[in-house]
Amino acid sequence: MRHHLPNKKGYFGKYGGQFVPETLAEPVDELTKAYLKYKKDKKFKEELNYYFKNFIGRPTPLYFAENLSRQFGCKIYLKREDLCHTGAHKLNNVIGQLLLARRMGKRRIIAETGAGQHGVATATGAALFGLKCIVYMGEEDIKRQALNVFRMELLGAKVIPVTSGTKTLKDAINETMRDWMANANDTFYCLGSCVGPHPYPMMVRDFQSVIGREAKAQHFAAEKKLPNYLVACVGGGSNSIGLFHPFLDDAKVEIIGCEAKGAAPLSNGGTVGILHGSKSYILQSKSGQILNTHSISAGLDYSGVGPEHSYLKDTGRVKYVPVNDKEALYGFKLLSEKEGIIPALESSHAIGYLKKMKLNKNDTVIVCLSGRGDKDVETISRNCICSY
Ligand SMILES: Cc1ncc(COP(=O)(O)O)c(C=O)c1O
Repeated sequence: MRHHLPNKKGYFGKYGGQFVPETLAEPVDELTKAYLKYKKDKKFKEELNYYFKNFIGRPTPLYFAENLSRQFGCKIYLKREDLCHTGAHKLNNVIGQLLLARRMGKRRIIAETGAGQHGVATATGAALFGLKCIVYMGEEDIKRQALNVFRMELLGAKVIPVTSGTKTLKDAINETMRDWMANANDTFYCLGSCVGPHPYPMMVRDFQSVIGREAKAQHFAAEKKLPNYLVACVGGGSNSIGLFHPFLDDAKVEIIGCEAKGAAPLSNGGTVGILHGSKSYILQSKSGQILNTHSISAGLDYSGVGPEHSYLKDTGRVKYVPVNDKEALYGFKLLSEKEGIIPALESSHAIGYLKKMKLNKNDTVIVCLSGRGDKDVETISRNCICSY
């Protein structure tokens, strides 16, 4: 019964917890109490469902990808999170957190972003609810995701460049946490993935689980059975845990999480440690320094991963695999040309991995198409698309 995790202290087995400096202990506690109160509140749930349906456009389709299915000799379904308003799954979580922020009386919203999708989603939600929005983004990511920076600014958010470390997602999270420590009274930290101290891994998972609940019902309506496989990309791990969670107790469903090979704490060289407030697999040196990562996709370029994924790795319930840039580019090209859908580079890792799976005629696979690829076309134009 994995649905009961985390425990009261925020642990999934030995992973998770609340490893925060003293100045954040109170804000984290206040957030935990508020979330536990409102997650059961009828009005809160009604409001969340209202915005899911009318603002985000849920339910998203579970699309039977006929051409891709022919290519791989099985049945492939795409969970179309790319069709959510703003172009990715990130808004599911943002709407949930901002509804909570409103109830907590916090009017200043801060967020980190890597690919810019979470930043755009937060700026969008803040505009909708009339809240002030500040987004921290690594300088390197600002360069490769220029379109999203412009979108955030159009939505009225202030984007603050982060120049420390590798100038990517982990550094943006550090900076956002620093802001939260200084301004917790009026500020809500809207975290973009299932990482960070408790309650974030649980709360983000809960908001994103709508993906898996819908997909399960839609697949059942189409096939009258459970799928054989679920495949999703893993950065911090929110689109994947959202798809996986409602299937965890269905032992026959094989579940695969695709990490970027150069940023893969679960499948390529990670060890247990503490990063951004929780215990999980992370990429670190022997002396505990966080290692630099590389991925062609900004949203997967992160040295940590959500604690629930670490637990699911150890228990063997989910298989985590590394997917390199070349394989992701292959996935990007394949989906664009075969299905007329340009995927985000992050989601392209899940598509690219299909080639490595041994699939049979009667197998059905659900792939989480976490986002659309408009933001990535410039990166693609700079990297030759090679067949592999
Ligand atoms: C489209 C898309 N997919 C996936 C991710 C990875 O995040 P997560 O693992 O939390 O779903 C991102 C992150 O920015 C993203 O923009």
